[in-house]
Amino acid sequence: MSSILRLENITKVFFLGTIDENIVFKDFSLEIEEGEFVSVIGSNGSGKTTLLNIITGSLPVENGSIYLKDKLINKDKEYIRSRMIGRVFQDPSIGTAPDMTIAENLALAENKGNTYGLKFALNKKKINEYRKLLKSLNLGLEDKLNVKVKTLSGGQRQALALLMVTMKPIDLLLLDEHTAALDPKSSEEIMKLTERIVKEKHITTIMVTHNLRFAVEYGTHLLMFNKGEIVVDKKGQEKEDTKVDDLLKTFNEISIECGN
Ligand SMILES: Nc1ncnc2c1ncn2[C@@H]1O[C@H](COP(=O)(O)OP(=O)(O)O)[C@@H](O)[C@H]1O
Ligand SMILES: [Mg+2]
Repeated sequence: MSSILRLENITKVFFLGTIDENIVFKDFSLEIEEGEFVSVIGSNGSGKTTLLNIITGSLPVENGSIYLKDKLINKDKEYIRSRMIGRVFQDPSIGTAPDMTIAENLALAENKGNTYGLKFALNKKKINEYRKLLKSLNLGLEDKLNVKVKTLSGGQRQALALLMVTMKPIDLLLLDEHTAALDPKSSEEIMKLTERIVKEKHITTIMVTHNLRFAVEYGTHLLMFNKGEIVVDKKGQEKEDTKVDDLLKTFNEISIECGN
């Protein structure tokens, strides 16, 4: 198997050299192979979101190398990386354009954010294509192509965000607690949809989640973070055999060590 993402000896420090200095990663390395679906869990502040920010380039690193498909991308700007790396956030209002219709949002995604020629792009053929695509989600969105996205539920918006971010081929999908703001039923639906899209399109995925059950039930690889270090790393059969109770136990042990 070949590696999609490789982080080598990463150091990430906030407020370097000040009284508030915060070393989040020190000599941190991680390799993700093509086709993996990695779930990342860990307590608040353990560096999960920072990891994603480092990968997308929304935060620089103090030290270390980031490779995407064996190409060093440290110097590539965020907008360049975003052509290969998709991201869905916790907040459903981030991944979609609220004042645009569903059809316009899809056209926007298809044109990778380029609004030029958007109206032109929305001909009858396109609309029918989008309707079919939405129908496959089973969320009733196919009848709402001309509805503004801000009127949709959080779950519907996350579904749309997932669809949009994977419309064009990408190398890596990053999900940052993308179900955390949803009610339990919508969370389940979004997880099922996530798995379906990831499998159908064979997208290598890193999913940060607070939900230990999702981390156990979904994905091929499980990582637990603590203070910028990987404390649990399970793949294959070992991952299959992992139970929520095992993870809870490790979580509690770490909390006690930290004096919480
Ligand atoms: N943009 C930032 N500026 C300063 N400190 C940050 C920033 N982002 C994260 N941090 C700090 O880095 C640490 C890890 O945060 P984060 O990656 O958000 O954790 P997690 O997502 O695991 O909850 C925390 O101590 C947090 O305060
Ligand atoms: Mg976070």
